[in-house]
Amino acid sequence: MKAQKEFEIQFQPLGKRVSVPEGASVLEAARQTGLDLNSACGGEGSCGQCQVVLLSGAAAPANSDEEFLIPQSDRQHGYRLACCIRVQDNLTVHLPKESLITGQRLQVESNLKTIPPDPLVHAYLAELDAPSLEDVRADLNRLKDALERQSQLRDLQARARVIQDLSPVLRENKWKVNVFIKDREILSICSPSQRALGLAVDIGTTKVVATLVDLQSGENLGTAGIPNPQLSYGEDVISRLSYVVRNIQGRQLMSGLIRQALNELLDELLHQAGAKREQVVEACLVGNTAMIHLLLGYPVRQLATAPYVAASSDAIDVPAEWLGLALAAGANVHIPPSIGGFVGADHVAMVLASDLDISDKVSLGIDIGTNTEISLRLPGSKVLHAVSCASGPAFEGAHIRDGMRAASGAIEKVRIYDNTVLLTTINQVPAVGICGSGILDTVAELYRNGYLNRNSRFQTTYSAVRVGEQGPEFLLVSADQSGSGRDIVITQKDVNEIVLAKGAIQAGMQILLEATGTRAEAVQEVIIAGAFGSFLNIHNAIEIGLFPLLPNAQYRQVGNAAALGAMWILISRSARERARQISRMTRYLELTTFPKFHRQFALAMLFPESVDA
Ligand code: FES
Repeated sequence: MKAQKEFEIQFQPLGKRVSVPEGASVLEAARQTGLDLNSACGGEGSCGQCQVVLLSGAAAPANSDEEFLIPQSDRQHGYRLACCIRVQDNLTVHLPKESLITGQRLQVESNLKTIPPDPLVHAYLAELDAPSLEDVRADLNRLKDALERQSQLRDLQARARVIQDLSPVLRENKWKVNVFIKDREILSICSPSQRALGLAVDIGTTKVVATLVDLQSGENLGTAGIPNPQLSYGEDVISRLSYVVRNIQGRQLMSGLIRQALNELLDELLHQAGAKREQVVEACLVGNTAMIHLLLGYPVRQLATAPYVAASSDAIDVPAEWLGLALAAGANVHIPPSIGGFVGADHVAMVLASDLDISDKVSLGIDIGTNTEISLRLPGSKVLHAVSCASGPAFEGAHIRDGMRAASGAIEKVRIYDNTVLLTTINQVPAVGICGSGILDTVAELYRNGYLNRNSRFQTTYSAVRVGEQGPEFLLVSADQSGSGRDIVITQKDVNEIVLAKGAIQAGMQILLEATGTRAEAVQEVIIAGAFGSFLNIHNAIEIGLFPLLPNAQYRQVGNAAALGAMWILISRSARERARQISRMTRYLELTTFPKFHRQFALAMLFPESVDA
């Protein structure tokens, strides 16, 4: 059999090297070295985010996708799509900063209230008699007897994994230990000074945010976030599900990636708090339906295509060990129930933490992301209504020529006065691209200043609108001023992407109102959650029609409510029950079943005529 040729790929400026077989893509090579390149389309050659510069080595000429997505001027300087280069020689490749996922600003906090704990796990101090020739009871029996005598606890159970650690821990602590127990089950045995901790996690499509919590006091001991490592297999849920359907190892790979990310976050949090993993006895994980399926290794073929059916939407408790999570020996992981379609446990958590389910106002709760979930609360009604819209990743910088996530150098605020562009970048460094809030501002400013008409077409009569390789475009930062050495522009195609996203969200909100017979004037409050939602300029969002005109509504930006909801469910038995109620009381409406949806969507893509926001 002929041996397959291998070639070495060197990635600059990091100096990482990897050998890959002939025919592998440069994107695959980057993944092998642990370099996360932006790749919203999952390597399909359609998002244009995995751009690299080919410095040396032979490669086939740019294909039609590359010709379409990379301006000729950049191609002349060696810009290529990493997913389109098939390796047939040793290559040296430069990775531009804007192509790398690292360094994303993550919304890890919420500005909502906290709740008093109603713990599921309790700590009991146990003092045991040391064994002797006259008293040879087994260590576990000795512990149970002490707990019965001192704390009136009977019929306790312990898994074999917990017993594996028992004998040394009792002896090291001289027969005085802290025992963490949930519903008669011994979860962990620690020294008397150690407290019971829990981990609350929001597994978002783009980021994973975890909080370490004291289970008795509810105290937040630290929060950390990292980009979702599945991002290099597709930015939106459908790309990732399709990857799993197409690749036999995909299910295991996706599950492994997220489990590894959870363990990394836990390590970081334990280090920050000076705590030990045997103290972490409970976790609560939330995420949309796809994220939970990928974590648990549920089948996804039926979820990837209409009518998007979950394998299960029930709450589930599994041993942490089963998920490969390095928590305490007997720790459990709780995953709250989801609602329907892609509206998952994260939306349940968001509704819970924002008190949408018990609000006395007519309220819309909206969590803007690659998939946007919206719920409507009508006071007095026993039912919440929810929809989900495929808003796409444009507000996260994907499918935008110079788009990037909210990382250092991203343009985040834009104003245009008298043809002068005023902008702010994250960390006030030279601009390398533009993130969601900056894109929204730019489109609103372009419309407000007449550069775009109601149909979102550039008005080429303005001298500031020039013709680029992809048609009309507006220059935000020239190459000599930017941090990437390239012009940063907003193209007509970028505007079209934003219009599609905002149209989907506005239409979703309108259909939800219509389906429930709710007038726009009746809406009193709009609660906006999520990272992009926290940084967006509400006035501009209304101006371009991201939200329909709701003349009496107050807007509240609440930050990462899903992460806070996960924390509530972790520390409180009553919050856990309320999450179950929310899932039961929420009626999921599938937008595409509404005959008016497509017309509404088309109308929602127009910019509003005039707004008094
Ligand atoms: S174009 Fe290469 S990953 Fe999307």
